[in-house]
Amino acid sequence: MVEKKLKKAQLNHITTPIKIGPFELKNRMSLAPMNETMAGHDGQVTEQQIAYFAARAKGGAALVTTGAIMATRMGSKFVWGRNIHCFHPGHLQGLGMLTKHIHHFGALASAQMSMGFGRQGHSYDETLLAPAPTAGLPYEAALDTMTKGLESIMIKSESAREFLVGQMTREMSISEIQSEQKEYAKSCQLAVIGGFDVIEIHGPHGYLEHEFLSPLSNKRTDMYGGEWRNRKRLLNETMEQVRYACPGVAVGVRISAEEHMEGGLTREEMIDVAKDLEARGADFISLSDGGGYEETCHLVGTAEAAGHIPDTGADFKKVLKIPVIVASQHDPIKADRDISAGKFDISAMARQLFIDPEYCNKVMEGRTDEINICKRCNICLMRCLSGITPECPQNPWLGREYAMDEYRIGARLKHESILMKGVTNAPLPSLHRPWWKKEISTLEQHWRSFRGPGQRK
Ligand SMILES: Cc1cc2nc3c(=O)[nH]c(=O)nc-3n(C[C@H](O)[C@H](O)[C@H](O)COP(=O)(O)O)c2cc1C
Ligand code: SF4
Repeated sequence: MVEKKLKKAQLNHITTPIKIGPFELKNRMSLAPMNETMAGHDGQVTEQQIAYFAARAKGGAALVTTGAIMATRMGSKFVWGRNIHCFHPGHLQGLGMLTKHIHHFGALASAQMSMGFGRQGHSYDETLLAPAPTAGLPYEAALDTMTKGLESIMIKSESAREFLVGQMTREMSISEIQSEQKEYAKSCQLAVIGGFDVIEIHGPHGYLEHEFLSPLSNKRTDMYGGEWRNRKRLLNETMEQVRYACPGVAVGVRISAEEHMEGGLTREEMIDVAKDLEARGADFISLSDGGGYEETCHLVGTAEAAGHIPDTGADFKKVLKIPVIVASQHDPIKADRDISAGKFDISAMARQLFIDPEYCNKVMEGRTDEINICKRCNICLMRCLSGITPECPQNPWLGREYAMDEYRIGARLKHESILMKGVTNAPLPSLHRPWWKKEISTLEQHWRSFRGPGQRK
């Protein structure tokens, strides 16, 4: 589908700064999370990945969000493609280099942290059962609810076709859920130590956090299933724990605005979820849409599906005080109008910044007529689904940014701080005790003072 060519326009709303949590974004445009399939086989950040993100930061996006980062060991065994990992201090070297590049080129860095893909996870070992809310419930993608263009692409790629049917699932136990949550919160701290300014909890698109919410994928009868407040429990508790673990950074959540499947989550329910998350300290809500692989029209939006998102955003904004981010608004002139009409606050773009990494600079400088608009043909997506680096017929540099000197950093610039803001804004609390217990006020209460043997006072 060929979209219209834009006219030249000076825009006044999308170009203005906005606060999220303790930080100010220099404009209202961000790189949406995309599993860009550039990590190494063990989830480590690669040179190409760093250059790819540097290009989007240099291109003027105020906020650069990673694709879903696997934040637990268990989750990392059931990945989408080659996701980044962050659950071990060994991951910090690559993550630190990544955030340094994003900061050097003037953007804030956001880590989209995932607890796992649940029934949408695929392991290299096909005999493993995917940990999910409910056992025996693999997904099966239907071609008629697939985003346009994807079905024809599926015909060409056997690897991409593997995504049509999920792996068999097993039910996660309560203690497993709770230890996953704890590991997740610790991994979010690691991400902050690695230099990320923003933690985005990954809750949309039929992945694990979403699966617990949905009556279609959560058939449990314990405290994490059944009635609505139980189905919300996993996400609400996770929000509380990450908020506690990472006080100095912005913490937000990406959710699907609705499930678009019969019997699935409604917009009213998701507005209720957003209110719960705001009450638990979320600094923003990032809206995507759709139920996941069984309904990809809204996940990787067609132009038609994307057209509805601003009005959906308006419904969320009516009840929230925190900023609302929406996805897939490629036309900046319309996005600017919608922001001024109060429908949403920040425009997050994915494929649009694949095709044109300079998009945000062009908007800031009134060169909107120079923007290359994404054709939504999904060739990039098919390459990612096949496990290879994305490429775009309209942008010959996508996937080979590593070859360009302009995305390398040199000496530290004045605006780059030596200590990460998240660490200096609020020291990270220790998570080696139950997260709900109070901090120990003074060491002396628990330790013998250093004065040789004798009785404790
Ligand atoms: C290759 C690819 C990978 C994606 N991976 C993620 C992801 O890891 N997390 C996420 O929340 N959304 C993911 N998405 C959805 C995008 O963030 C975005 O919501 C969607 O593509 C619509 O925006 P766009 O029209 O600008 O591409 C992905 C999309 C694409 C094309
Ligand atoms: S390949 Fe290029 S034009 Fe096609 S959807 Fe991806 S970014 Fe857009």
